Amino acid sequence: GAQYDFVVVSNRLPVDRVVDDTGDSTWRRSPGGLVSALAPVMATNDGAWVGWSGGADESLDPFDHDVFHLVPVRLSADEVGQFYEGFSNATLWPLYHDVIAPPEFHRTWWNAYKKVNRRFAEATAATAAQGATVWIQDYQLQLVPRMLRELRPDLTIGFFDHIPFPPLEIFAQLPWRRAVLEGLTGADLIGFQRPGDAQNFMRCVRRYLGVTFRHGQARISPEGAENDDDAWTLKVASYPISIDVAAIREMAAKPETQERAQEIRRELGDPTTVFLGVDRLDYTKGIRHRIKAYGELLEDGALTVGEDVLIQVASPSRERVESYKLLREQVEGMVGRLNGQYDTMEHTAIRYLHHGYPFQEMVALYLATDVMLVTSLRDGMNLVAKEYVAAKSDGSGRLVLSEFTGAAEQLKQAILVNPHDIDELKELILLAKDMPADQARRRMRAMRRQVLTHDVNHWQDKFLQDLTDLKTPETS
Ligand code: G6P
Repeated sequence: GAQYDFVVVSNRLPVDRVVDDTGDSTWRRSPGGLVSALAPVMATNDGAWVGWSGGADESLDPFDHDVFHLVPVRLSADEVGQFYEGFSNATLWPLYHDVIAPPEFHRTWWNAYKKVNRRFAEATAATAAQGATVWIQDYQLQLVPRMLRELRPDLTIGFFDHIPFPPLEIFAQLPWRRAVLEGLTGADLIGFQRPGDAQNFMRCVRRYLGVTFRHGQARISPEGAENDDDAWTLKVASYPISIDVAAIREMAAKPETQERAQEIRRELGDPTTVFLGVDRLDYTKGIRHRIKAYGELLEDGALTVGEDVLIQVASPSRERVESYKLLREQVEGMVGRLNGQYDTMEHTAIRYLHHGYPFQEMVALYLATDVMLVTSLRDGMNLVAKEYVAAKSDGSGRLVLSEFTGAAEQLKQAILVNPHDIDELKELILLAKDMPADQARRRMRAMRRQVLTHDVNHWQDKFLQDLTDLKTPETS
């Protein structure tokens, strides 16, 4: 097959299927910073992207879509259940997010995870040119680095973990902890969101593989090697991911977007304060804590229906996984009860929207919002916080941000909160609403300086530069 010098590997391909009125299906580039950041690199470096189409039992040949050469990896319906919904999202996802939901350990799921990771490694090995650079993304593919190195020792292999890496005391629960660490350590460079994630990882490697890091680097040997000739150097560091700042600023600057923002406020009956939450409907996001605090503020009379409104966009996610079904019931129960109690004929307490929105509508929502609420219980980064900051080009807006997000390490002037502390959350929601404008602007200005100078291109350049440097012999 075709041979590419730069290969990105992620569970999902960077395209979504769209079905038109006539029932024909085509592809559209997926939204999100990662995809738009990698598009130029793909175009200039003759790159390919290996990933799953999102469908079950679907055999697709490699195909091109806009700048992408796409190499689909097939998943059977059973594998969607056991690899994707099972091991990835009912074992690893809750385990890596501080066991907010109980992780399930099933040997059949683990076997499917190994099998699918091997398929990704094989598809990548068949796609990459001699000496190519491969960049593997996220927790669904942790075994791919080592499997790929065994197939293709000539490649330069990077891995980026988009979600938290848990403390050793939690990671220890995983029955296959050694195998996962062996899989990851097949890379030349592993990137994490926060320095703390990198430290957690290095501590686990030390404990379970007996390998010690010095200044973020360690020598790794292939299993059973007689000597060290085949060993490689593994570097571990943090690279906080960001967003496509230019795209958001451009959208926020459009007169149509700004008019839509004003229209949204009119449609809400011109409230004094618009609060907004935007999340995948996921138990890591602290949506229940947010609604609980908001409901108590209504009960206390500190917030008033009509004057204040909370918009909660909760986009459907992983809907066949049990803990997601449960969360949906809980959230919809809470919203229903509160709205039943506080709504008037004219106004509603919480606008709950269980669907995704196009990019322009999201940016208009940010512009229409006075107080953004990001209350994750654990979050690798949280890009919504950064998007909100980037969109607020007039310097208005207040951000309440959970200290348990990666973003809190960059957005230090946000109103930082422990979302488990409902009283504190209530206080800070009110503080945000009532904060004097000049003080709020000062905070927003500082956050905008951070986000505007650290976009997703900056993130990607830094990671790929470090990966290249590792393989370039020093010349001094
Ligand atoms: C998180 C993960 C991604 C994942 C995304 C959407 O951001 O880090 O790897 O793609 O959620 O979840 P989904 O299960 O729909 O791919």
